Amino acid sequence: MKKTPIAAAMLALSCHLFSANAQSQNLVVQVNKPVTEVKPTMWGIFFEDINFAADGGLYAELVKNRSFEFLNPMMGWKEVKKGGTGKVLVTNHENENAANPRFAHITVNAENGVYGLENEGFRGIGVQKDKEYLFSVLLRNSSDMKLRLELVTSKGEKIGESSSINLNSTGQWKKYTLAFKATQTEPKAKLQVLFEGKGELDADMISLFPKDTWKNRPGGLRADLVQMLADLKPGFIRFPGGCIVEGRELSNRYQWKTTVGPVEDRKLIMNRWNIEFKEPRNASDYFQSFGLGFYEYFQLSEDIGAEPLPILNCGMACQYNTGEVAENVDPYIQDALDLIEFANGSENTKWGQLRKAMGHPAPFNLKFLGVGNEQWDEQYIERYKEFDKVLRQKHPEIKLVSGSGPSSDGSRFDYAWKELRKLNTDLVDEHYYKSPEWFLNNAKRYDNYDRKGPKVFAGEYAAHMKDSPIPESKNSFQSAIAEAAFMTGLERNADVVHMASYAPLLAHVEAWQWRPDLIWFDNLKAMASPNYYVQKIFSTSKGTHVVPVLNNGAVLAGKDSIYASATIDKKKNVLNLKVVNTSNAAKTFNVNLEGASAVKGGTWEVLSSSEPFAYNSLDKPTVVVPVTTAAKVKGTSFKVNLKPGSVNLLTLPIK
Ligand code: AHR
Repeated sequence: MKKTPIAAAMLALSCHLFSANAQSQNLVVQVNKPVTEVKPTMWGIFFEDINFAADGGLYAELVKNRSFEFLNPMMGWKEVKKGGTGKVLVTNHENENAANPRFAHITVNAENGVYGLENEGFRGIGVQKDKEYLFSVLLRNSSDMKLRLELVTSKGEKIGESSSINLNSTGQWKKYTLAFKATQTEPKAKLQVLFEGKGELDADMISLFPKDTWKNRPGGLRADLVQMLADLKPGFIRFPGGCIVEGRELSNRYQWKTTVGPVEDRKLIMNRWNIEFKEPRNASDYFQSFGLGFYEYFQLSEDIGAEPLPILNCGMACQYNTGEVAENVDPYIQDALDLIEFANGSENTKWGQLRKAMGHPAPFNLKFLGVGNEQWDEQYIERYKEFDKVLRQKHPEIKLVSGSGPSSDGSRFDYAWKELRKLNTDLVDEHYYKSPEWFLNNAKRYDNYDRKGPKVFAGEYAAHMKDSPIPESKNSFQSAIAEAAFMTGLERNADVVHMASYAPLLAHVEAWQWRPDLIWFDNLKAMASPNYYVQKIFSTSKGTHVVPVLNNGAVLAGKDSIYASATIDKKKNVLNLKVVNTSNAAKTFNVNLEGASAVKGGTWEVLSSSEPFAYNSLDKPTVVVPVTTAAKVKGTSFKVNLKPGSVNLLTLPIK
C-alpha cells in the first residue's frame, strides 16, 4: 500500500517512540536522599480564553450576545412571530452607559399571539431533562405587557416553557427573572423570549443560566468543567492568557479593571481569536463578555486550592499581529499595583472595597504576578524593567513572572534569559509547542540549567502531532506519553523548575482555534484527553521532595526508551515513582528502594495504549484512561513489569 506523506511521517514517529527493546533494568530509588523540595506550585493549569473556553465554555451563560454588543448587534438573535408582529431597533445610550451602550428597543404588536426574539446560544444551547434554568433580563417598558419563555429544539419543538409574567410599565429599567425546567435533553436548543400585548419596551442583558452551576453560584461556572480542573489538584492557575492578554492591538488588550464589578457594567470586547485564523478555525461570534472576569478567576483559584497567577499586559500588543507598544507604561504599571490592591488590599482601600462589594471581604492572598505573555526582544525587556523597578520596591512579597518569548531556544530566548538573569527576576516563563520527539529528546533539558538566579516556569507546552480531521485526535496517546517522559525531567529538576502547565486547557469541539487541548467539551459533555490523565498522574502525586531514581548510577531519561523520576511525600509518608516506557516492548525492572524499610502494599496506576494514535473523544471518552490496581509490594526489593507504551505511577507507603 502506498503511504501518504503524513502517514509515513506518523509511522516514523511511532517507530521512534515505540522501538522494541528486550533488555531488563535495575532501578535504584534513593528514598532516604531527598535532593530538593517540590514546590506546591509545581503542577498547575493555564486557563486561556481560546477555543470558547470562557464564553460558551467555563462561563455557564447560555445566551450568546446577551447585551447586543457584538460587532453585529443582532448576531445570535432572530425575530419570532407567532401570531404577533413587531420590530427591533438596536439603540445606543452610550452617554448613560459607556460600558454597555446598546440595547434592543422592541415594538410589540401581539394582542393575539406573541412576538419576540430567539437566541441560538453558543453552537446551540445545551439543556438537560428535568434540570432547572434561570432566566433574567433588564427591561424598560412603556406599556403593560406580558413575558414568557419557550425552549425549543433545533427543529422548533417545545421542550420547556416558563409561566407568563406581567410587565408593568414603569419607564424604568427593571430586572425580571423566571425559572423553568427543560423537558428533554438537547444539545442545541434555542431560547425564545416572547412578549404578549401591544407597546414598546427596551431589553438588555438577556440571560439564561443552568441552576446547577459550580457551587450553585447564580451566574456562575459550568460545574462539570470546574470539577475536572479541581480533580487535577492544580498548584496554580495562570490566567487569562495567552495572546488575549496582549490583544491584536493595544486597544484590544485584556484590561482587568473592565472585568470586575456588576456584569452589566463589564465592557465586552472582541476576542482576538475571532479573526486570527481562516475557516474553519475562525469564529466571528467569539467575544469576551467578561462574565468570567478577574474576581471569578480569583474565586476559582481559591475554590480549587490553586495559587492565582494573573498575567497582565506589559504595554505591548501581540508581536505576531501589530506589535504595537505603549510609549508610556505608567498606566500599565498602575494597573498592576491596583490589581495587587484588589487581590490583597484591606477592605478600606479603593480596590479592596470593590472586592468586598463583590462578595469577598478577605484578601485573595495573591503571591505571583506575570508581566507580559509571550513577548520578545528589547522592547519587552525595556518595559519589563520598568515594572520590575516599581513592583519590587512596592511589593517585594509578590513573585514576578517574566517571559522568554515563543520559542524554547534561539537568539530571542537567549537574549531574554541573559537580561532576565541580570535582573534576577523570580521566574521566567518558557513556551514550547513541539513534536513528541522533541519532548523525548529534551527530557534532560533542565539537568544542566544554571541553578542560580531565576527559576523556570514551563508556562505553555504540548506535544504537537500532524493534523487530522477529527478535533480531539490531536490529543493522541503518543503526544501524552511524550509529555509524560518530559515531565519526569521537570520533576527531577524541581529545584530549578518551580511551575509547569500544559496549554491550552479547554476547547469546544465545534468552536476551537487551537489544538491539542487538555479537555474537550460540547454543550453537554466534557472529555479528558490522555494528556489530561498524564497531568493528573503527576499533579496528584506531587510529593514534597524529589528523590533520585538511578540506573547504574545514572538518571533514566531515554536510555532504552525509559524515563523515570520519583518524589516522596514527607507528610503522607509515601513514595511516588513514575516510570514511562515509550517502547513497544514490555519491560521488567528490579527495583531497590534504598533507605526504606518494611514497605508493603501500594497502588499501581497505568496509562497505556498499544495504539500510539489512540485518543479519547466526546463519543468515546474512555479509549485511553488510567487503570489503578493494588501493587502488592512486599519489602524494599521487588520486580515491576511495565507494559509497552505506558505511563506508570507506583505509590508506596514508606518508612
Ligand atoms: O496557547 C495558545 C497560544 O500559544 C497562546 O495564546 C500564546 O501564549 C502561545 O503562542
